Amino acid sequence: MNKSRINSVIFYYSQIVTENTKRVAENIAIGLRRNNNKCKLVRLTKFDQDIELLQSFAFDHYDLIGFGVPVYYFHPPYHIKFELKKLPSLKGRKGFLFCTSGGNPGSTLQQIKMVLKAKDLHIIDGCDKWKGLDVHQMYANQPNSNGGVGWLPSSFGHPTTEELGEARKFGEKLIDKMNSSKRIAEKKFWARDNPSAKMWSWEGIQEWFPKFHLNKQKCTKCGICAKICPWDAIKLTPYPEWIKKCDRCYICELKCPENAIECDFTDQIEYLENLMRSKKKG
Ligand SMILES: Cc1cc2nc3c(=O)[nH]c(=O)nc-3n(C[C@H](O)[C@H](O)[C@H](O)COP(=O)(O)O)c2cc1C
Ligand code: SF4
Ligand code: SF4
Repeated sequence: MNKSRINSVIFYYSQIVTENTKRVAENIAIGLRRNNNKCKLVRLTKFDQDIELLQSFAFDHYDLIGFGVPVYYFHPPYHIKFELKKLPSLKGRKGFLFCTSGGNPGSTLQQIKMVLKAKDLHIIDGCDKWKGLDVHQMYANQPNSNGGVGWLPSSFGHPTTEELGEARKFGEKLIDKMNSSKRIAEKKFWARDNPSAKMWSWEGIQEWFPKFHLNKQKCTKCGICAKICPWDAIKLTPYPEWIKKCDRCYICELKCPENAIECDFTDQIEYLENLMRSKKKG
């Protein structure tokens, strides 16, 4: 067994409201730091800034490179997928992938894997089973743990202490794999085609989800929405304007201190309620 010190880095994106993927990443890093191995955590935040960072990053200093994302509409968040396409070659490096979801990760890891394989990254492991609290506005009518409404009930309390413990073990196992003298095969368990992911395309989510309506009576032009948007999709003129297609994560709406961004989720909520009713029947 070759027991050299492993130097790893984890890039992750995590929505500022919930930070589920951040917590999982931090726990994987604890596992990866076992026995004096090293692990650096890098949080991806905004599209242009991330691309600059990824393109100038010294990947050749690292033996193992991890990527973690939340699941958005059965996909990786689209801005992350586009960012990863701009990575330089990762030839000679090993990698791993993970995500957190409300319970259906769709084809998220398969899609990241395809993008990173084109960069010649040898992906040795991955995990898409960790869950995280889901605050999508589609669940606006669902009861939440605060006695109010607005979160997916089955995602309450996730990631759990147990799940975070599994994340640490996942990191430790990665070190064992890296130290093994056996050739590490590529992991294939997520290589499946997912019908939900096919249905919720990039164009489709732009069409189906509600447009952003600004209530100028309420808006104070504070700029918070533009500052937190991961796509840089909001321009201040000086009122916010939505200038391009985006992830449809709706954190701009959630975090506006004046509730000045008004999105009408009536159709989406109705769809969800019908889906729940038919699931109960079926
Ligand atoms: C815009 C949006 C879309 C989502 N789509 C899905 C989905 O397709 N499947 C799923 O299981 N969870 C979905 N979720 C839930 C998130 O994947 C889950 O809450 C995740 O843990 C969030 O991670 P984060 O806190 O690191 O951002 C979605 C959440 C948001 C905000
Ligand atoms: S966060 Fe709200 S109040 Fe502030 S600029 Fe954006 S819409 Fe206006
Ligand atoms: S404009 Fe709003 S919904 Fe779109 S990516 Fe930015 S924060 Fe998310």
